[in-house]
Formats: sequence, structure tokens, C-alpha cells
Amino acid sequence: MKKSIEIGNLVLKNNILMAPMSGVSDLPFRMIVNKFSPGLVFSEMIASRALIEQNKKTIRMLKKNTKEILAIQIAGCDPQIMANAAMICENEGADILDINMGCPVKKVTNGYAGSALMKNEDLAIRILESVKKSIKIPLTLKMRTGWDENSRNAPKLARIAEKIGVSLITIHGRTRCQMYRGSSDWNFIKRVKNSVNIPVIANGDVKNVEDAQNILKISKADGIMIGRGSYGKPWIFNQILDSFEDNKKQIKINLKELILEHFNLNIEHYGNEIGVKNFRKHLGWYSKKLNNSNMFRAKVNSVEDKDEIEKCIKTFF
Ligand SMILES: Cc1cc2nc3c(=O)[nH]c(=O)nc-3n(C[C@H](O)[C@H](O)[C@H](O)COP(=O)(O)O)c2cc1C
Repeated sequence: MKKSIEIGNLVLKNNILMAPMSGVSDLPFRMIVNKFSPGLVFSEMIASRALIEQNKKTIRMLKKNTKEILAIQIAGCDPQIMANAAMICENEGADILDINMGCPVKKVTNGYAGSALMKNEDLAIRILESVKKSIKIPLTLKMRTGWDENSRNAPKLARIAEKIGVSLITIHGRTRCQMYRGSSDWNFIKRVKNSVNIPVIANGDVKNVEDAQNILKISKADGIMIGRGSYGKPWIFNQILDSFEDNKKQIKINLKELILEHFNLNIEHYGNEIGVKNFRKHLGWYSKKLNNSNMFRAKVNSVEDKDEIEKCIKTFF
């Protein structure tokens, strides 16, 4: 593992990062993940326009735990709105501001945001410049390899971003047109790594310790970002970190206690009604591959009462 990454004045405690994931990397999940020592965690993608319009749900996404080192990620296509949104994030305590140039979802790309910015380099540059000027905290960028197979311009955009003052770049090794098909091209990430002097983080398809070792070997990147690999196993960060160290210090996990804590944090954050509903996916992930998990999932998907869910968790795990 390479030496700890520096992002502006911040020195990360390790190089295993938790990915921004809409609907997943919210405050409750990050608080659970943070028990397992990721080097940095990212918020869900936050729409810049909704942020400056003070949308209530959007503002809730800015909530931060004082102990976490948090990169807040914003998305949008208007340089001035993005700059204003970035300032709000800085004022709310973001340690790092991340720009999303990777989201493949039509609702986002149709508005020229997310990965659509990769095929509009002029606009991408104006956004980076405008946001960079507006904040004092470090600016980072997350993107894919390009829009499609014939336009994999991540190395070029990375060089431009470095010149503008971006401090770190994460590459998900797929094109926008791939969505989540095929596999992340860890070799291509090396091309980005070789194009810049700032840290490059490799992302895509890391599900276990072996993948983590391989992605670093192949991409030569400075660190790893993990998204779906943390579904139902937030301890993956610690497991991977441990695999790089001689002095192994496996953390003991009490799954039942961990899930109950996550559930209660979720209820606290969202309230009973939404908190019960949006925790079902986590219960699905936590119970995956366990005996009778089908029955457990069917049960919790039909229950709406918080105390009932708690009982189900206690009985099943
Ligand atoms: C449910 C879900 C939500 C995501 N939301 C975001 C997001 O808000 N911002 C972002 O940059 N990437 C987002 N991504 C992409 C991930 O950050 C990551 O790049 C991708 O999943 C590949 O990494 P993985 O194989 O480790 O999951 C999302 C992915 C998933 C599966």
C-alpha cells in the first residue's frame, strides 16, 4: 500500500475509501461504516439546484457527524449554481467537496450533469474553475473512463482538472454507456494514474480482499474506493486494510448489535415511517446468504411498525 494520501491539508488515515451512493451512503450508513476505519467517506450525490433552493430533504443530506472526515458530492451543470452549492457545503462543515462527473442516470445526464459533463469538456472546465474559486476546502472529482468506448477522455480531463487545482481524482473504470454492464477496466485506470501527479483512486467491482489487492496491482492507483462491496458488510474496509498490514487487528463483530444500531440511527435520521421503509434494503443485504433469509425478507417487507422490525431483527440474527 502506498503512503497515506494528502488532500490539501488533510492526511487520510488510510487509502480505502467509501463510495458516494445515492440512497445508501447517508449519515446512518456512514456512521456504521466509520466503525471500520475507511480513510474517507462520501455523501450521497446532492443536486446543486435543490441545495441552493434549500429543499428540505436535500438539506438533511448535508448532516455530518463531527467525527467523520466527509467529502460532500454535488452534481449539476450550471457553473454558478455549482459554485454556490459548493459554498453551502463548505459552510455546513464538508471537509472536501467532490464533483460528480460519473452519474449515468438519464434524469441526471439529460440535464448535462453527471457523466454527461465528460462529453462537454468546455462546460466541465467552467464548472471546475467556478467551484474551485468559490471554496477553500479541497476539491476532488469523480468520473468514469468516458462517455462511451470511442471517447474515453478521462486521462485528458484528469490533466485539465489537476491544472485547475483538483486535489484527487476517482475513476470508476466503466464508460457512461456501459452503465453497470461488463466490468470495471482497472488497466484503463492506470492510464489516468500515469497522466497526473495528484492521487488517483481506483473504483469498480472491488468485492473482497483479493479484488482490492488486484485493483491496486493493475491500476497502480494510490487508493481504492468501494461501493456495492460494502452492502451488508460495512466491515469490508477494515478487512481490506488488515490484509495490507503485518499487524492484523481483526475487529470482532456482533452482527445483531450492529444491525440494531444501524436501524436506530436510521430511524433517528429519517423518522419512523421513512426510516422503516428505507432500511429494508439493508436488511436484505445483511441477511443475504443466511438460512431462511427469503422468509425474513418477506416478513420485514410487510411490516411497518418500528418495534416489530426490531423484534424481527432480534429473532433472525
Ligand atoms: C445504488 C448506487 C448509487 C450510486 N450513487 C452514486 C452517487 O451518488 N455518486 C457517485 O459518484 N457515484 C454513485 N454510484 C457509483 C459508485 O460510487 C461506484 O462508482 C460504482 O458503484 C462502482 O463501484 P463498486 O463496484 O464498488 O460499487 C452509485 C452506485 C450505486 C450502486
